[in-house]
Amino acid sequence: MVDVILGLQWGDEGKGKIVDFFAKDYDVIARFQGGSNAGHTLYVDNKKVVLHQIPSGIFHEHKTNLIGNGVVLDPVSLLRECKSVEAFGVDPKKNLFISHRTHLILPTHRALDKASEASKGLDKIGSTLKGIGPAYMDKTGRNGLRVGDLLDKSFTTQYIKLRMKHQRLLDNFNFQEDISQWEEEFFEAVDALRELNIVNGEYFINQKLAEGKKILAEGAQGSMLDVDFGTFPFVTSSSTISAGVCTGLGIAPQRIREIIGVSKAYCTRVGSGPFPTELHDETGELIRKLGNEFGATTGRPRRCGWMDLVALNFACMINGVTQIVMTKADILDGLSSLKVCHAYNVNGAETKEVPFQMNRNKPEPLYREFDGWRTDTSAMKKLDEIPEAMKAYIGFLESYLKVPFRYISNGPGRDQIIS
Ligand code: GDP
Ligand code: IMO
Ligand code: MG
Repeated sequence: MVDVILGLQWGDEGKGKIVDFFAKDYDVIARFQGGSNAGHTLYVDNKKVVLHQIPSGIFHEHKTNLIGNGVVLDPVSLLRECKSVEAFGVDPKKNLFISHRTHLILPTHRALDKASEASKGLDKIGSTLKGIGPAYMDKTGRNGLRVGDLLDKSFTTQYIKLRMKHQRLLDNFNFQEDISQWEEEFFEAVDALRELNIVNGEYFINQKLAEGKKILAEGAQGSMLDVDFGTFPFVTSSSTISAGVCTGLGIAPQRIREIIGVSKAYCTRVGSGPFPTELHDETGELIRKLGNEFGATTGRPRRCGWMDLVALNFACMINGVTQIVMTKADILDGLSSLKVCHAYNVNGAETKEVPFQMNRNKPEPLYREFDGWRTDTSAMKKLDEIPEAMKAYIGFLESYLKVPFRYISNGPGRDQIIS
């Protein structure tokens, strides 16, 4: 069977920490989409590690980690990550596997990402500029190069052909970037990648299933950044939702069991795009400061706001979420009151649905206010220990979403979780 852990908001919900926490109960941890735009933070031996492409099960000995075909892989970033996990005594040659169908991010994809963003001016997406959009465009446009192509003698020729296509696009953008340094790093990283375990991912994972092994699929980004269901065009370029697990790993839908959604106790977003419950006041500033809400990949300050149940309910619906893990509850410990958005007012009408185009139909959030718990919860372990005001807050969320909250994460540490 396959269980899934994915983000229900705009990313950075704390997926990495939660996957690391659950990994002990699984045999294989597999990433199914996204690429080096992701930044998943874990603490190992009390040291912070940020993973971008390597699954968050890598620090568990004897667990298999798979980068699935749905990922777009940047070899340069991967080599850097391999070195960072090696510093903890992990040997990626032993427990990291990469599907040969995984598409590669080339240096020119990164240049194209920059060119595309620059051409958009004020309408820019706020991309991480890791080349994600252009790499997925080459996948669906049937031009891309895949990890398996690295093993072919003609790889360099194929690379040069694609690079020439990209150069024409860059010329159209009238964009210049000296990529010679990136290219040097790319070819060095590609040599290292060839030495890793490149496998036929779909047979690999289905063989594990046939052996009765337990698989945990790890999402990147969040449901509101999904290319179909997110706040388009301010989204990423992959299927971040549970449906993406099937296409991103080669797993049949009936294999999927639990869909564990991760949501912060409030909301954040990094980059541009609609964010109905965003706070532009000192409470927003306070949450950013207390929650240390700065991007794990780009260091950009994250926009902060209240919990948005309209968006969260939508995310539960499209994913089929069976349980929720609420993270960063401890960040709200000192607040005297909290708000939760339970409906939107769109053009004078109240709705509980996410509108088609939130920029044109700007929703005004309608809030319900709750008392804060004003208690330090960061050392708690059991759900029956949590303060009454927190119980009331979570009780409201559960009754609205009709999905149980099984775990509350109360700190960044590996074992800081209330169950
Ligand atoms: P991801 O992209 O979903 O894996 O999340 P990020 O790693 O980008 O951002 C989550 C941040 O919150 C990281 O710095 C984590 O160490 C931290 N974090 C995760 N869970 C908790 C929690 O329950 N409480 C606190 N205080 N920090 C947390
Ligand atoms: P994790 O896995 C938060 C955002 C970017 C931008 C938009 C498109 O750590 O949750 P892209 O680089 O994909 O072209 O950017 O998506 N974004 C993320 N925001 N967490 C992430 O990943 C993100 N990955 C991309 O900020 O708004
Ligand atoms: Mg992140």
